[in-house]
Amino acid sequence: MPEKTFTRTLVTAALPYANGPIHIGHLAGAYLPADLYCRYRRLTGDDLVFVCGSDEMGVAILMRALAEGTTPRAIVDRYHPMIEASFRAFGMSFDYYGRTTSPTHAETSQDFFRRLAEQDLFKLKTEEQLFDPEAGIFLADRFVRGTCPVCGYEEAYGDQCERCGSSLSPTELINPRSALTQATPVLRETTHWYLPLGDFQPRLEAWIGTHPEWKPNVLGQIKSWLNDGLKDRAITRDVPWGVPVPEDVAEARGVDVQGKVIYVWFDAPIGYISATKEWAARQGDPERWKRYWRDEQTRLIHFIGKDNIVFHCLMFPAMLMGYGGFVLPENVPANEFLNIEGQKLSTSRNWAVWLHEYLEDFPPDLLRYALATTLPETKDADFSWKDFQTRVNSELADILGNFVNRTMTFAHRFFDGKVPALTEPSEADREVLAQLAGFPERIGASYDQFRFREAVFETMNLARLGNKYFNDTEPWHTRKTNPQACANTIHVCLQLCAALGILMEPVVPFAAGRLRAMLNLTGVRSSLPGEAEAHALGWADAGRPLLEVGHALGEAEILFSKIDDDVIEAQIARLRGSAPTSAPEDEPAAPYEPLRDTITFEEFARLDLRVGRVTAAEPVPKSKKLLRLEVDLGFEQRQVLAGVAQHLTPDELLGKQVVIVANLAPRTMMGLESQGMLLMAEDRDGRLAPLTADAEPGAVVR
Ligand code: MF3
Ligand code: ZN
Repeated sequence: MPEKTFTRTLVTAALPYANGPIHIGHLAGAYLPADLYCRYRRLTGDDLVFVCGSDEMGVAILMRALAEGTTPRAIVDRYHPMIEASFRAFGMSFDYYGRTTSPTHAETSQDFFRRLAEQDLFKLKTEEQLFDPEAGIFLADRFVRGTCPVCGYEEAYGDQCERCGSSLSPTELINPRSALTQATPVLRETTHWYLPLGDFQPRLEAWIGTHPEWKPNVLGQIKSWLNDGLKDRAITRDVPWGVPVPEDVAEARGVDVQGKVIYVWFDAPIGYISATKEWAARQGDPERWKRYWRDEQTRLIHFIGKDNIVFHCLMFPAMLMGYGGFVLPENVPANEFLNIEGQKLSTSRNWAVWLHEYLEDFPPDLLRYALATTLPETKDADFSWKDFQTRVNSELADILGNFVNRTMTFAHRFFDGKVPALTEPSEADREVLAQLAGFPERIGASYDQFRFREAVFETMNLARLGNKYFNDTEPWHTRKTNPQACANTIHVCLQLCAALGILMEPVVPFAAGRLRAMLNLTGVRSSLPGEAEAHALGWADAGRPLLEVGHALGEAEILFSKIDDDVIEAQIARLRGSAPTSAPEDEPAAPYEPLRDTITFEEFARLDLRVGRVTAAEPVPKSKKLLRLEVDLGFEQRQVLAGVAQHLTPDELLGKQVVIVANLAPRTMMGLESQGMLLMAEDRDGRLAPLTADAEPGAVVR
């Protein structure tokens, strides 16, 4: 297939629900990668628009309002400005940040709904659903709680059990009760519109087939949805908050439209279009949005977290196909999840680092850099405050900051703050300049392939190269022994600093701006919206020397200060201190497992527990749950199958000294014999941790 060519780019980042502030999980999932990409592409001179906005409709907002005893409107009016402000402070370079309560959005959503209905692409179904007789409303999704039919958890939601992860429908719950009034719901008939995704499956499959280059984690999820066969999805709800179902459409089908709204996952992605329309209007060219949505030459990229894959890769594309004339996403580089200090991020337990709190204590660049180096691009990743400190101190300060600082200091002290001449460059000087030439393209290729960790690592390598060259050429010696060589070193180092002033812009835009000011480097294209002057210096120019001989430098300043241990310890304490041991009221903590019946000592002594060292660990093919371990018990090797693959990676077990039930009768699972059982601690939220022992393999546990 011929390579497609694009003349412009439209980037979207998932619209965050306006029912709470932004945390680093959001940033690592969608927003930071999106911003890195946009800033980089703007520097290449791309015609790019980056839209986002608050997702203000739907049940999540209503739930929050009910939990706080206020209205949905009050909730979104509180969180939307807060979210927008912390995004701006963090340097998110949106062209437009909208909200789905806007009139444009209601119109656009209803237009989509109407057009798909007119083409007879929906199904209408009348079914019995749970109705709260006290509140007088239907109990959609999360408004009903009850006992999970799979695991017996008593606090399962109507759409999902948070204990065992099963996806449920409200009528499956045992002993259902209304989350609003605690009343026992009754069944009542209601009519809803469904998007029959199955009808779109052949077209979706054909289209996905043209994108083998998508990330394996994304393609994997899509393929599993497709293999299961796409089902009809209800796209309306009976809840008192949302974009109303268009009256004319309902009338045409004889449905009472009273209280019916469009399902939030139908309207929210349309929010990207509404935001682009509002952006265009603000540019004074209301029709301009069409260039980005309805013209094949647009490269559409959706940045999202992995929980949004089905909506962006199947449902929204089906809607766009159904409407007709819209571009489909060229890529959907979804990220996995970010854990914090080894634990799953949880807003209800307040196990999170909140962006607005972070910004009270540190500049945005530090977190941008630390997160960019640990993005969960291919698998879940972990943020820890210690790692944050190391990234800042040993990389930003010691590598980048130090290189800039020593170069600037030399230039000011010994060359009168001017760029010295490069005269008869040595082999080493020429070699470094030759290497510099390759950086923009190599880093750019990583950005273009959505490999942001690699891009940022490679960018820092330029500063590493600079430090090595500085050390090797020893300007502090040559200053006295060979002034020309010293001048050459400083000339070359200043050129590297200038390149860093451009190449570092996507990841640490604030520091990059200060670096350019120190160098008095002007004429660089902006990475912010609408400021790309046609003839300014851009990404590719960073590969060649940009500073002229004799160019006067600006004042030197410290680019990054180191963070002390006590500052980091305070952050860790704040995280641990603010995480309650029990969850807040609207999400009751999972119950402790009840104690089992008493046993005698003799009964206990029948168990043979041994310490073993995990010498090999790997996933069991075709199994989601099992890992295959080889365990050294000192006197013999065992193969042990452990159902922990959804909690632990093989790496997390490899080399660990674990505890094994060594006299359990062998069992065969997935065709493999398990010769023992790995002991694990499981907490109330279902998190698993292996029991480890600091003793030699074979030691008896009693
Ligand atoms: N609000 C949703 C979430 O936080 C994301 C919506 S993305 C959009 O999971 F495409 F629907 F806008
Ligand atoms: Zn369950």
